Amino acid sequence: MCDPEDLPCPYRVRPMELADVDQVAAVEKLCFPLPWPPETYRRDLRYHGNTHYLVVERMRNGRQVVGFCGYWLIDGEVHVSTIGVHPEYRGLGLGEYLLARMLSDAIERHATAATLEVRVSNSVAQCLYAKYGFRVTGRRRRYYRDNHEDALIMEVESLTNDGYRALFERRCQALAARLGEGALERIGPRASAGSASAG
Ligand SMILES: CC(C)(COP(=O)(O)OP(=O)(O)OC[C@H]1O[C@@H](n2cnc3c(N)ncnc32)[C@H](O)[C@@H]1OP(=O)(O)O)[C@@H](O)C(=O)NCCC(=O)NCCS
Repeated sequence: MCDPEDLPCPYRVRPMELADVDQVAAVEKLCFPLPWPPETYRRDLRYHGNTHYLVVERMRNGRQVVGFCGYWLIDGEVHVSTIGVHPEYRGLGLGEYLLARMLSDAIERHATAATLEVRVSNSVAQCLYAKYGFRVTGRRRRYYRDNHEDALIMEVESLTNDGYRALFERRCQALAARLGEGALERIGPRASAGSASAG
């Protein structure tokens, strides 16, 4: 078994730990106008309830948390609650890596559908979600407290039908080819469960 640090992909997605919270809070400040209080993460990590958090870390010359995400899992529905990547590490596939791993984890936990809210102005995040099959299904008026911007509701109706599985596998294979050897295994078994080829 080779050391993950020796693999060409220098990034790893893994569950967030209490020791990560200060680094996560620092990245979050660079991502959002209204970052969550670090205590929210600490409380959720201690409670081990329906909330799950992941980080993506860079594993060269020490370890650095460069992104994070979170989701709730309620009655088989995964609700993406947050996702952010350090500005200096954007455009490398790491937001996608986090989203793919989050969906893979949630499917392993028997999620069958997915939902989230996103600012109407946030076309970058909307493109990321659309790439993984999320479609706009509604709008929440004046949802955000800082500027009263509307939120779009985006959903994946079925994470488990054959069409979605094939899409998910194709996306993960292409992402792994982009990130380098070692990435696919770290996304999880759902990323390569079938026979779909890269594309
Ligand atoms: C949204 C965010 C997490 C994306 O992370 P990222 O690591 O830069 O994104 P990736 O490199 O993984 O790109 C994945 C996909 O996102 C979309 N995307 C990324 N950057 C984009 C850009 N500048 N313009 C349009 N789409 C873009 C594309 O669909 C892209 O797929 P592609 O590479 O095949 O075109 C990141 O921009 C971020 O942290 N933003 C601030 C926080 C935020 O808005 N979070 C979402 C809250 S709902």
